[in-house]
Amino acid sequence: MEIKKTRIYGDIVEINKKEVKSFWNKRAQKYTDDNPYNAVKCNDNNPEYVHTLEEYERNYIIPQIKIDSNSKVLDIGCGIGRLADVIVPQSKYYLGTDFAEELLKIAKNRINPSYNFDFEVCDFINISKNECVQKNKLFNKVILAGVTMYINDQELKTCLENLLEIIDKNATIYISSPIAIDERLTLEGFYSENLNSEYNVIYRTVNEYLNTFKVLIEHGFKVTKNEHFLNDMKQYPETERHYFILER
Ligand SMILES: C[S@@+](CC[C@H](N)C(=O)[O-])C[C@H]1O[C@@H](n2cnc3c(N)ncnc32)[C@H](O)[C@@H]1O
Repeated sequence: MEIKKTRIYGDIVEINKKEVKSFWNKRAQKYTDDNPYNAVKCNDNNPEYVHTLEEYERNYIIPQIKIDSNSKVLDIGCGIGRLADVIVPQSKYYLGTDFAEELLKIAKNRINPSYNFDFEVCDFINISKNECVQKNKLFNKVILAGVTMYINDQELKTCLENLLEIIDKNATIYISSPIAIDERLTLEGFYSENLNSEYNVIYRTVNEYLNTFKVLIEHGFKVTKNEHFLNDMKQYPETERHYFILER
């Protein structure tokens, strides 16, 4: 009997969206008030690491997106609203969307209701059809923090193309994701001891990401940041933390 490979190098293999969604809905059970971000940061055995990542992103990356009182922010795959904590108080309007309704239930109760924000259950592929998105467009800041690696290639291209309908002519897109250092790596139904669960994810190379961004570049966007970060705290030999900023 052939044993199914769950770590696939190089080849393009699709991951199962239903399983990705179910994984994220279950992560809602990991939410605690004293370590709220671990539910979405997935470092169950290393809460200190979650803290360092958080500090870095807040202090060095988010300021580069230049959110201010004119910003209309669309945070796609917002999870429990981790970045909403820092972005909502600075922006004119914030909309967090996610396909995992259990995470959004938590998000909705975390933010001070006096601010101008919404949370909506929405799969990224349907973003331009969502009523709340339509009502509040055009957005000038788009956040995709740790989301793109859960979306298959063709679908991700379509998702990015759909963004063009709902963003302003001047807009900034922030995309962060672990990337593959040498060659693409897909985990398909891979049992992760760290997460005590099966896990599905696509680690693309930087060049694969740049190729995926072509649809945005053809519509006037430039990649203004393309950097790895916190390499001194590397956890896995084949991947590293990376972020891109695209501006138009
Ligand atoms: C690693 S968590 C990041 C959450 C949040 N962006 C943050 O940085 O705290 C990944 C999130 O992406 C969401 N997600 C994955 N695929 C999605 C899709 N196709 N549409 C909407 N949300 C998606 C998951 O439900 C999960 O909340």
